[in-house]
Amino acid sequence: MLSTNFAGIELKNPAVLASGIWGVNAELLMRAAKAGAGAVTIKSIGPRERDGHANPTVIAWEHGLLNAVGLPSSGYKEMEEEWKLLEKSPVPVIASIYGANVSEFEEVAKAVAFHKPAMIEVNISCPNSEKHGQLFGCNAEASTEVISTVKKEINIASRFYSFRREPYLDVERPELRARFL
Ligand SMILES: Cc1cc2nc3c(=O)[nH]c(=O)nc-3n(C[C@H](O)[C@H](O)[C@H](O)COP(=O)(O)O)c2cc1C
Repeated sequence: MLSTNFAGIELKNPAVLASGIWGVNAELLMRAAKAGAGAVTIKSIGPRERDGHANPTVIAWEHGLLNAVGLPSSGYKEMEEEWKLLEKSPVPVIASIYGANVSEFEEVAKAVAFHKPAMIEVNISCPNSEKHGQLFGCNAEASTEVISTVKKEINIASRFYSFRREPYLDVERPELRARFL
């Protein structure tokens, strides 16, 4: 009864585990799938190993959680074992990718698309990528460049893509913002 079609992907229900919340490895993603998630999203994958920020990275406050984990990643090259487990997933697996510049996004998109996840979420909104590159999500031209480059890689693999946009996308340049959206 709850089954739905999300951007071309059949989901048994619309509850999708968001990137990084819990599924920081394939075993945990599969636990979420077995526990009933309609789809699961992999923790954002970067071009190389990255530690992220030092703890504390998550704090609970009165109205929820605040986090600045800093995009820790083993890097896409270290994920072969994870992909083997994820191939057996009973629900669609969504990948999430980040990079510090357009060519890093392209490199990661290409490597990840090879494994044919149901969808690739392009994380251009995480403020933590700013310090080691550019905060793409705030700049319409940069966002457009990343998306059009990554789209080519993902289309080659006939995959769907989505992008995680930044609420502050070029607020002072509405014409560019409108063109991007
Ligand atoms: C500990 C933690 C780690 C996260 N890691 C990622 C990540 O790697 N990539 C990403 O795109 N979002 C990441 N997020 C953001 C979540 O995917 C989600 O967008 C955010 O928590 C807002 O959704 P919520 O209000 O349902 O919690 C993370 C969030 C938390 C709390």
